[in-house]
Amino acid sequence: MPPDTPQPSSRTTGRDRSIRGGAPARTPFGWLAARVCLGRPALRSASLASVVAAILIIVGGGVVRVTGSGLGCPDWPTCIDGSLGPTAEMGWHGIVEFGNRLLTGALCAVVGWVIIAARLQRDPAPAVTRWAWMQFWLVVLNAVIGGITVWVKLNPFVVAGHFLAATLLLTAAAVTWHKARELDLPPVPAASRRSINLGNALLAATAVLIVVGTVVTGTGPHAGDSADVPRMPFSWLAVTVIHGVAALVAIGLAVALRRTAQRPGETAVAAKAGMFIAVFLAQGLIGVVQAFTHLPEAMVVLHLVGSALVWVGAVRVYLAAHGGERAAHGLSAGSNTA
Ligand code: HEM
Repeated sequence: MPPDTPQPSSRTTGRDRSIRGGAPARTPFGWLAARVCLGRPALRSASLASVVAAILIIVGGGVVRVTGSGLGCPDWPTCIDGSLGPTAEMGWHGIVEFGNRLLTGALCAVVGWVIIAARLQRDPAPAVTRWAWMQFWLVVLNAVIGGITVWVKLNPFVVAGHFLAATLLLTAAAVTWHKARELDLPPVPAASRRSINLGNALLAATAVLIVVGTVVTGTGPHAGDSADVPRMPFSWLAVTVIHGVAALVAIGLAVALRRTAQRPGETAVAAKAGMFIAVFLAQGLIGVVQAFTHLPEAMVVLHLVGSALVWVGAVRVYLAAHGGERAAHGLSAGSNTA
C-alpha cells in the first residue's frame, strides 16, 4: 500500500465518520493521522516534556509570588490598558509577571505536541489521547483562574485555587506520561488489596497535605505583591503545624506501603513508594528549614519544586498500585477506560 493511502480501519474514530452516508468526514487530526505516523518514543518524550512544563509553570508562578511581581501586569488579558506587554515604566516586576504569561505559550505548545503525538500513533490509545486533551482543558482553566487572580488583586483564596488548578494540570500530565510508558510494557500481576488501599490513602493524604500547604502560604508573608494584599484569616503557626502533621501521616502511609509491597509481583509499587519516600524526606527538610528561617525566597521556590515532585510521586505510586488491577480486568493503558 502506498504510504499516503488512507488506512481507514485503525485510524478512523467514530467522531471522524459522518452520520449519514457512511463516508468518513475527517477532522484535521484524522486527515493528518492517515498520512503521518509517530512512534512510541515521540509520545513518551512529548508526555515527559509536558510533566516538566507543568512543573515549570508552577515554579514560574512561585517566582512571580516571592518576587512580589503578582501585579507586575495589573490587568488581564492585556498587561496594562492598551498594551499586551509591560511598558518601560513598569520596571522588572512587569517583566517577571509578563515572562510568566509567556511561559503559558510554551506550555500550550508542549501540550499541543502531546495531543498530536498521541493522535498520530499507529495504534492510537484512546485513554492516552483523552488525558492529553484533558491537559489542554486544564491549561485553559489555569489561564482563566490566572486572569481572575489578577482581577481580584491576588486574593489569597484565589491564589491557592490557582496553585491547585496547576497541580491538577500536573496530575493530567503525569497520568498521560504513565499511560504512554505503559503502552508497550507487559501486564503486571494485581497488587494486594492492602497495597491498593494504602496507595489510595497515600494519594488522598498527599492531596490534603498540599491543600493545607496553600493555606500556610495564604496566611504567610509571600503575598505576591509589595502592596497591602490581605491574608487568609488563620493563625500561621496553627496551619503550619497542621501541615507538618499531614506530612507525618503521608510519610507513615508511604512507609507502610513500601513494607506491604515487599513481595514478588509488587516490586514496581515498592520501588515507586521508595522513590516517593526519598523525595518526600528532602521536601520535608526544606519545609522545616524554611519555616524556621523566616521563609527565604529561594527556599520557598525549592519547596514548590518539591511539592510538584512529591505529587507526581504520589500519582505514580497510585497508578502502579492500580496497574495490576487493570490488567486483571483485561484493560490496557490504551483501552477506553481512563
Ligand atoms: C514533605 C511534604 C510536603 C509537601 C508536599 C508540602 C507542600 C507544600 C505546598 C504545596 C505549599 C504551598 C505552596 C504555595 O501555595 O505556593 C507549602 C507551603 C509551605 N510549607 Fe510545605 N510541604 C511539605 C512539608 C512541609 C513541612 C514538613 C513543613 C514544616 C513544617 C512545611 C512548611 C511549609 C511552609 C512554611 C509553607 C509556606 C511557604 C510560603 O509562605 O510561601 N512543609 N508546602
